Amino acid sequence: MTDQKQKPFSFRLLKTDGMARRGEIRTPHGIVRTPAFMPVGTQATVKAMYPDQVRALGSDVVLGNTYHLMLRPSAERIARLGGLHKFMNWPHTILTDSGGFQVMSLAQLRKLDENGVTFQSHVDGRRYEMTPERSVEIQQLLGSDIQMQLDECIALPASPEDTERAMRLSLRWAERSRRKFEEMGGPGRGQALYGIVQGGAEPDLRIQSATALGEMPFEGYSVGGLAVGEPQDVMLRMLEITTPAMPVDKPRYLMGVGTPEDILESVARGIDQFDCVMPTRAGRHGLAYTRFGKVNLKNARHADDPRPLDEASACEAANRYSRAYLHHLVKAGEGLAAMLLTWNNLAYYQSLMQGIRDAIEAGTFEEFRARTREDWA
Ligand code: GUN
Repeated sequence: MTDQKQKPFSFRLLKTDGMARRGEIRTPHGIVRTPAFMPVGTQATVKAMYPDQVRALGSDVVLGNTYHLMLRPSAERIARLGGLHKFMNWPHTILTDSGGFQVMSLAQLRKLDENGVTFQSHVDGRRYEMTPERSVEIQQLLGSDIQMQLDECIALPASPEDTERAMRLSLRWAERSRRKFEEMGGPGRGQALYGIVQGGAEPDLRIQSATALGEMPFEGYSVGGLAVGEPQDVMLRMLEITTPAMPVDKPRYLMGVGTPEDILESVARGIDQFDCVMPTRAGRHGLAYTRFGKVNLKNARHADDPRPLDEASACEAANRYSRAYLHHLVKAGEGLAAMLLTWNNLAYYQSLMQGIRDAIEAGTFEEFRARTREDWA
C-alpha cells in the first residue's frame, strides 16, 4: 500500500427499504457496495478464476483465510513479498477471517483454552498456537483491509451451557483482539476489525453478545455461528433477533452464508455482507446457479440439450456454451468445466446482489424479493 492510498475505513448507509439496507464501505483499496457478496479466496485465489474476471463480475471485495495462509506460504512470507493484495494481484478490498472457524473444522489435535487454540497443521503436521493477538498480528502481516476477531464457533445443535461458554469466551477474545489491533495502529492505517456475534440458537445469548460487542468500538460487526447445521428457519429467526441489537451505523456481515435464497432473506433482515464457498465449490462439482434455480450438469438429461444455461445472462459462460457441452466437460472431468461453471455461478450471485442493491435504492425490494422467489420456484 502506498501512503496516498491510505484513507480511513468508513461506512455510509445510503438507503433503507424495510429492514434491507443499501450502503457503501470505503477502505484503502476501494469502495464496497453493500449488500455485498464476497467470493471466497481461501488460498489467495478464487479457485478457477482470474482476478480480473472476479472483478469484472462486480466483486468489490474477496475473502482470504488466516488459517490457510499462515500455514502456507506463511504470513511473514506474504508480508515480505509486499502483502496479500500484491501477492494475489487483487488491488481491491480484502477481508480476512481470523482462523478460529477453520482451525475447528480442519486442524488436527486441537486444544482450546482461555488463551487461544493450539493445533496441528493439516498441511505438514507442525504444531501452531493461535491467540486473539496472534490472529490480529497475522492479519496485519497479510495487510487485509477488514479483519475478524478470533472467536469460537460451535456446531448446532448445542446445549445452552456450551453455547454460553463459547459466546462469553468470544467476547473476551473480542476485547483482546481490539486491544492488539489498536496497539498495531490498525484504525489509523485505514484498516478495520469486526467483532463477531455468537450465541448459537439461543435468542437471549444472541442479544447479549450483539449488545456487548456493540459497546466495543469495532468498525463493523459479524454474525457468526449460523449455517452450522441448523434449519434455515432457525437461522432466519436468529437474524431477526440479532440485527435489531446491532449498531445501525456499522456494516453487518453474516459469515459463511449462503444459498441465493439465504442471501435474499438475510438482506430482508438487515445484513450487508456475505461470503460463501457455495458458488465456487458447486461450480467445481458440476452445479450451476441460474435465475431459474440450480442445474445439475452431471445429470444425463443435459447430454443432448443445445440450450445455454441462460441466454439472457450477460455472462459468456451462461450464454455461449450449450448444456450438452457443459455436461460433457463435467463428465470428462475437464478443468474448463470448473472454470465455466464457477464463472457462471459468481456471475449469477453478483447479478443477484446488483438486483438487490438496485431494488433497495428504488424502494422496491419487496417486489424484487417476490419476483426472484417466483423465478426460482
Ligand atoms: N465462518 C462461518 N462462520 C463463522 C464463524 O462463526 N466465525 C468465524 N470466524 N468464521 C466463520
